[in-house]
Amino acid sequence: MTERIIIFDTTLRDGEQSPGASMNTAEKLRLATQMEKLGVDVLEAGFPASSQGDFEAVSTISAKLQKTEIAALSRTSKEDIDRAWQAVKKAVKPKIHIFIATSDIHLKYKLNMSREEVIKDTVEAIRYAKTFTDRIEFSTEDGSRSDRDYLCKVFGAAIEAGATTINLPDTVGYAVPREYSDLIKYVMAHTPNMHKAIMSVHCHNDLGLATANSLAAIDVGARQVEVTINGIGERAGNTSLEEIVMALHTRPNYFPLSTNIKTEHIYPTSRLVSMITGIMVQPNKAIVGANAFAHEAGIHQDGVLKNPMTYEIMKPEIIGLSANNLVLGKHSGRHALHTHLKDLGYDLADDELNLVFKKFKNLADKKKTIVDEDLEAIVTDEILRTSELFKLEYLHVSSGTTVLPIASIKLIISGKSVQGSGYGNGPIDSTFNTIAQLTGTRSELLRFSISALTGGTDAQGEVTVRLQENGFIALGRGSDPDIITASAKAYINGLNRIEHLKKNPVNILAGRL
Ligand code: KIV
Ligand code: ZN
Repeated sequence: MTERIIIFDTTLRDGEQSPGASMNTAEKLRLATQMEKLGVDVLEAGFPASSQGDFEAVSTISAKLQKTEIAALSRTSKEDIDRAWQAVKKAVKPKIHIFIATSDIHLKYKLNMSREEVIKDTVEAIRYAKTFTDRIEFSTEDGSRSDRDYLCKVFGAAIEAGATTINLPDTVGYAVPREYSDLIKYVMAHTPNMHKAIMSVHCHNDLGLATANSLAAIDVGARQVEVTINGIGERAGNTSLEEIVMALHTRPNYFPLSTNIKTEHIYPTSRLVSMITGIMVQPNKAIVGANAFAHEAGIHQDGVLKNPMTYEIMKPEIIGLSANNLVLGKHSGRHALHTHLKDLGYDLADDELNLVFKKFKNLADKKKTIVDEDLEAIVTDEILRTSELFKLEYLHVSSGTTVLPIASIKLIISGKSVQGSGYGNGPIDSTFNTIAQLTGTRSELLRFSISALTGGTDAQGEVTVRLQENGFIALGRGSDPDIITASAKAYINGLNRIEHLKKNPVNILAGRL
């Protein structure tokens, strides 16, 4: 039996700190359910003291998931710990994750605390959290830039107070592999009672080294890795789950280690994260990028045809990427749709399936073949967005070389129908102006991008927008065979996310990390 690496997923907490990637509770619950299916061991559901939205999401997820350990992030204050516990207490396996910075830079400029004060706070916090649960993780923020002997002292005190996992983050993505693994090795060798805790690592990708640093740490004995799906996260992101899991899976001779991850759910989970957050994966991203298994060069194609082992180190099926993605058409029935959606990771309730089936039939009237990406787009638009404030009901746009572009739009706002029309310098400008007028919003469009979901001239257009209003930034995504409608959907989705942020402002003091 091989030793196991614990996969701690923080897509819903650190991942949500990607610029614009805020998610509402329904979206987070959908993702958490998929993570449980994927087999993550620990799911960090949020930072309850940071906002009411985070508190609600952590509580909802804790009450619903059936086997995954659920972690809630907390600073060392009693108020934070109380909030974390209130949010996570219904989980089958609740965990409190306490952190405090330990680098001299953070102590001096951020916390204004001495090293001794940090140790005192750590011990008090862990002892207090221990009155609620035995599952305590302790992290030293900016650990990789902290004094190594001081780290051993803090970790030793944390373990003595009751921490069962100690985590050493490379918060600013500054470390390089040998340096980071040396530090982990040193800390593991010199921390008192290290055998009573699991060593965890948490890396950021500012130098593109998050996965390499995490693997180097595993090499010297770290047994928990903190990751996010698609590597999303603050700035350049976090260590990516799929890269760690597939490195271990593909190189068992080098890493005689296993994980609980069911690799066939990796690709559907990656797609779900993209669809929900609006953050699309770059084509050359390892494991889940569109080109990850595409062999372009003739010499490679020839080799792969003769024997896939010539150039293919992983089979696409292992991550759940079906070789034949061409799936359904106009005559496909409800049952075939249901089965295929399940394979994609969407286990829909009857009423949800009815809705998706109706949209699927509509789309099949316009588009000859419906592929996975089309189905995902329908599910995202119809199912994941039900709690939204603004919904598109009707859109008509006229434009051309000699007419003034005019949009007539009907929206449902809080259950009421409102309509109006407006113009702009093109069909999209007139659409966005009209939506802004009907919703009474004043957002600035920071970015707009459009691509085709699949090949073919009948492909659905996929639009992503980045909006800003009163300091709130949100991404929006929409798809439709009509690119103006796709743009309207993306814009409305972005506005809904801004509304969500307005209702759930992040507590400035708790902040984002
Ligand atoms: O990067 C970091 O230091 C963190 C900690 C809170 C674990 O996200
Ligand atoms: Zn982090």
